[in-house]
Amino acid sequence: MIEEEMDFENRIVSPEYNFHDEDNEITLRPKTLAEYIGQDKVKENLSIYIKAAKQRKESLDHVLLYGPPGLGKTTLSGIIAHEMGVNLRVTSGPAIEKQGDLVAILTSLNEGDVLFIDEIHRLSRNVEEILYPAMEDFSLDIILGKGPSARSIRLDVPHFTLVGATTRSGQLTAPLRDRFGVLFRLELYTPEQLGEIVRRSAGILGIEMDRDGSLEIASRSRGTPRIANRLLKRVRDIAQVEYDGKVTEKVAQAALARFEIDELGLDDFDRKMLQVMIRNYNGGPVGLETLAAAVGEEAVTIEDVYEPYLMQIGFLTRTPRGRCVTPLAYEHLGIRNDGVQQSIL
Ligand code: ADE
Repeated sequence: MIEEEMDFENRIVSPEYNFHDEDNEITLRPKTLAEYIGQDKVKENLSIYIKAAKQRKESLDHVLLYGPPGLGKTTLSGIIAHEMGVNLRVTSGPAIEKQGDLVAILTSLNEGDVLFIDEIHRLSRNVEEILYPAMEDFSLDIILGKGPSARSIRLDVPHFTLVGATTRSGQLTAPLRDRFGVLFRLELYTPEQLGEIVRRSAGILGIEMDRDGSLEIASRSRGTPRIANRLLKRVRDIAQVEYDGKVTEKVAQAALARFEIDELGLDDFDRKMLQVMIRNYNGGPVGLETLAAAVGEEAVTIEDVYEPYLMQIGFLTRTPRGRCVTPLAYEHLGIRNDGVQQSIL
């Protein structure tokens, strides 16, 4: 068991948005597809769909973006609005509590506007039902009154584009998922792509950095631009106070060691999770719920936040019988993998 609870909110390698990211993300967020680095397939297709919709003078079809947090779903929705030359309205599933909240948003949109709903899988059923005719026919069915005197009126709304974001498309109800014309899965970024993002961000923030410095930060950012930009700011602080201000490989390594982020971007929690699997469950297979209880974290968080990166670097596999630690992970942790008797070196 893990002795101390991890402070997930303050975890420097958390891909979840935290309020310290706000200034960062607004200035660093690319506004056009050309500025957006990575997700090449998404970019290529999106640019065709945008061009086609603009040529026909129509709104873009509804778009569903799914994938792990911190990969740029909000950023992409902003780019879609910018490229289409329309306004962006941002909200989230949990923020829309009542049908009336959604009606108010939809009726205030202009023709062609982009409505971005983050965490769209968390919309209530009631609210979802309003969304179906709005997405399909750009109309709302509103019930006025109650009981036998209740009547329904139909209200037109502007032709808008819904951009929905979720960590997993499987969490969406089938009727909602079916109403999206375009589905994009965002992938974790490669260290090279993240290096480009870090260099772009450093340029915008006026941070002096060499290429090796940027790659050092990139390779420890778990495939996630939000983490890369956050680490860049923290490494800059150390470069400024303890060195001459320039972010080099050496400075980045020293700073990241201080944050207890290892050379693959794993933090204390990742290492402990893998160690618990090895020590308590012989490396697996261990069921998700069992693992969640053992490490004191919610199963969905383990699944959406921790596992994608551990799987990408080949440290963890998902099997029908549960999660398994791979020999690569044993090696990284310096633990011998000799079958029956696990000995911690
Ligand atoms: N900042 C965050 N994500 C980015 C991306 N994909 N491209 C460029 N800058 C970014």
